[in-house]
Amino acid sequence: MRVPIIAGNWKMNTTIAEAEALVRQMLPELETIDGVETVVCPPFVSLDAVSRLTQGTSVQVGAQNLYHEPKGAYTGEVAPGMLVGVCRWVILGHSERRQYFHEDDRLVNQKVAAALDVGLKPILAVGERLEEREAGRTEEVIARQVRVGLESIPAPESLVIAYEPVWAIGTGRAASGDDANETIGLIRGLVAKQYGDAFAQRMRVLYGGSMTQDNVGGYMAMPEIDGGLIGGASLKAGDFVSIVRQAAEARRGQ
Ligand code: PGA
Repeated sequence: MRVPIIAGNWKMNTTIAEAEALVRQMLPELETIDGVETVVCPPFVSLDAVSRLTQGTSVQVGAQNLYHEPKGAYTGEVAPGMLVGVCRWVILGHSERRQYFHEDDRLVNQKVAAALDVGLKPILAVGERLEEREAGRTEEVIARQVRVGLESIPAPESLVIAYEPVWAIGTGRAASGDDANETIGLIRGLVAKQYGDAFAQRMRVLYGGSMTQDNVGGYMAMPEIDGGLIGGASLKAGDFVSIVRQAAEARRGQ
């Protein structure tokens, strides 16, 4: 059985002091929960502080982005090697990166390869925009994002994919459990084509987009959904802890 992952994407929120306070608030409760991998992804400047606070605990740390070049004249960017030792995970291809910073599938592919090269575990985010969904293009868009995103990358054992329909992110308009389950099944099928069935069955695929403590149970009851990438609700300690706890309970009950 796949171990669920609940990852909090803090996006561009929290100062270093706020990040530390948030972790301090969540940590004692999160430490009591078994059976779920918990990851928090603060902004770059807080990674070091959060990593120190979570050292030796069950809570893992992730970055929200990286640049694929190892070093050099790329003002403002952060190289994969700079994250080693500070965090274990990295979110790549988030729709906000694609939308506001014009990241395309090719660039995301380079970033996934670069992350794996230094031993970081990528959480590759994919998802269709509202107009793509309404035009009946969901399947085609996801297939392209997965295919190009993983092109020429040998079986990435640590890879996690997050299905995040763009219209569901930060909108309160979450995808239905059935819808998310179906699309995630599709993603697993695409991955099976590239890496084989056994790989696809081992790989964890998360849902993201307005996941909260009120709807997490419904998603976790779905056979294809292995957890969540949580934005807004990951900034409230009580909400995030409740989501992690419910994910653990849901999996135990299956
Ligand atoms: P949300 O964000 O939970 O606030 O919808 C999810 C995400 O963007 O990862």
